[in-house]
Amino acid sequence: MRLEVEITGKTFRRTAGETHEVLAPLKFALQSGEVGVLIGPSGCGKSTMLRIILGLDHDFAGRILRPPEARVGMVFQEPRLLPWRSVEQNVRLAAPGVSDAKLSELFRILELDAHRSHFPGELSLGLARRVALARAFAVEPDLLVLDEPLASLDDALAGRLRDEIATLVASSSVMTLLVTHSIDDAIRLGDRLFFLSARPARIVQEVPIAVPRAERTETELGRIKAELAAVQLESK
Ligand SMILES: Nc1ncnc2c1ncn2[C@@H]1O[C@H](COP(=O)(O)OP(=O)(O)OP(=O)(O)O)[C@@H](O)[C@H]1O
Ligand SMILES: [Mg+2]
Repeated sequence: MRLEVEITGKTFRRTAGETHEVLAPLKFALQSGEVGVLIGPSGCGKSTMLRIILGLDHDFAGRILRPPEARVGMVFQEPRLLPWRSVEQNVRLAAPGVSDAKLSELFRILELDAHRSHFPGELSLGLARRVALARAFAVEPDLLVLDEPLASLDDALAGRLRDEIATLVASSSVMTLLVTHSIDDAIRLGDRLFFLSARPARIVQEVPIAVPRAERTETELGRIKAELAAVQLESK
């Protein structure tokens, strides 16, 4: 499976009449098993790009080639749970085929066991984000799109969830597109990092990480980070 993104432009028309250019021409592709990471300043157009890639916004110039049969798992920047459904119902509605065993495993990993019957209004933002992650994983996606999924979690939990995302990605051929502001998350999870400019976003730099995820020891990660800092200095 392959995802091809070729956007030539995206402009919002504001109610007051003026136009707001959000995406400049940009192009990239992802293969099965790959994790692409989008890193860029706040407001540059990342979430807008994800909505276009998911087919939720058709008002843009360019084309997206997404395998039509691909199952899609998505974690939006705001958790977007159905308020009148329990945590468990929210996950089951998105993934009707999910087995009880798989659901239990996800709730255990995401530390949601105690919250199965709670309603979204009773959850903290961090908990709601974890439910959104459970929902995305329960689908057993071919394409996983994560918009800052680890924001508002404490460091320890964010670290555990990042490892879980890495495990999921390693155990299947899912294509993943991750938006993050964290270089640490990017170098632990990514195969290719796309650094974006300020709005209108374009790709200023694409940095592949050749070392397989499983072999990224702390020493290796330190080396990758230093290399990245050098590359970014060069490009300034
Ligand atoms: N529906 C909309 N109508 C008009 N302008 C919009 C709309 N959605 C987003 N924008 C504008 O488009 C720009 C990009 O927004 P977007 O949410 O894609 O940024 P982002 O890169 O995801 O930022 P962040 O890192 O803060 O999440 C912003 O200037 C925003 O105000
Ligand atoms: Mg965003």
